[in-house]
Amino acid sequence: MARPKLFTPIKIRNVSFANRIIIAPMCQYSAKDGNMNDWHLIHLGKLSLSGAALLTIEATAVLPEGRITYGDLGLYCDQNYAAMSLTLESIRRWSDIPIAIQLSHAGRKASTEVPWKGGGQFAPTHALGWQTYGPSALPYSDDQLAPVALDKERLRQVRDAFGSATARAAKIGFDVVQLHAAHGYLLHQFLSPLSNQRSDEYGGSLKNRMRFPLEVFDTVRSSFPPDKPVSVRISATDWVDGGLNVEQSVLFAKELERRGCDVIHVSSGGLYHAQKIPVGPSYQVPLAREVRRSVKIPIVAVGLITGYEQAEAIVGTGDADMVALARTILFDPNWPWHAAAELGGKVRVPNQYLRSQPNRYRDLFETE
Ligand SMILES: Cc1cc2nc3c(=O)[nH]c(=O)nc-3n(C[C@H](O)[C@H](O)[C@H](O)COP(=O)(O)O)c2cc1C
Repeated sequence: MARPKLFTPIKIRNVSFANRIIIAPMCQYSAKDGNMNDWHLIHLGKLSLSGAALLTIEATAVLPEGRITYGDLGLYCDQNYAAMSLTLESIRRWSDIPIAIQLSHAGRKASTEVPWKGGGQFAPTHALGWQTYGPSALPYSDDQLAPVALDKERLRQVRDAFGSATARAAKIGFDVVQLHAAHGYLLHQFLSPLSNQRSDEYGGSLKNRMRFPLEVFDTVRSSFPPDKPVSVRISATDWVDGGLNVEQSVLFAKELERRGCDVIHVSSGGLYHAQKIPVGPSYQVPLAREVRRSVKIPIVAVGLITGYEQAEAIVGTGDADMVALARTILFDPNWPWHAAAELGGKVRVPNQYLRSQPNRYRDLFETE
């Protein structure tokens, strides 16, 4: 059999990726005051040995009020920077996997309890809550509070915060920055007509709704080294009539490409409580395919990609250039090893683990 496409390398700007498997960003809700701690070292350290092409660090807030929960990571102050640098230094000592960080602002979906304690929203007066902000004073659902609409001065502060966090990420040495414009968080809230009902130049037409996310993208791009990629995660559709749809997202993707975006992750949903998502294996792949048809930059598909042949088919048929895994790789952190064994690919594993190669998979592990 020919070399599996899932295990072919790809280079984006100056960063080389060993294969097409990306570890998707996954919130751990385990930080204090936005700072990484030994949980992040254990969790990310484990995933850094997985043989994937890229490890993406969870949604990391650019401002304290941009955290989804009080346990979210931040990169908004020197203390956050110091804690993250320390964790990354430890991981780097033992793994050369490229590492991305997802920079985010939760907007109106901020100030919530961690999911395993129910995930409800806290009022600003609650000890664990704070005031939320959004494009318009419209809540996510009836049981959530309306955010304060961002005025021009606050918009400038958010944009600058994305720039400062990116500069910190560059200093830490991240290989990739991912801008979070999906899942109903602040930048997605600007894109969708359901959450953005502003009457100034940031609301109304798609061109106006894209304005703030694109300004933030430009700030992030210009704050990160030119030889390293910037990717953007989008929700291609709100899965709601009258919401953001894939045609609009294609126009957004084209504009991002024109401005120097290197990769687009195509996810969906999260904006509106009454969304109707047809969840099932590869359910977001048709959206990735649609966006990929319209741009030349690499596209990442995500969402219930669990099987080795399934992943190979997505990349092999050209529906997407790479696949991202979240729950699957939490369940099986060595998924890329098993995929390589099954499909006839090769993976890099730590020297300390070379002796684990089963006899029936000769030449599975790459050595330096
Ligand atoms: C525990 C957990 C945390 C997540 N945190 C984030 C996040 O920080 N940023 C994000 O864009 N998506 C986040 N997601 C969504 C995943 O990145 C992914 O898009 C989604 O789970 C679908 O992929 P899967 O079917 O492989 O899990 C999270 C998902 C899980 C399960």
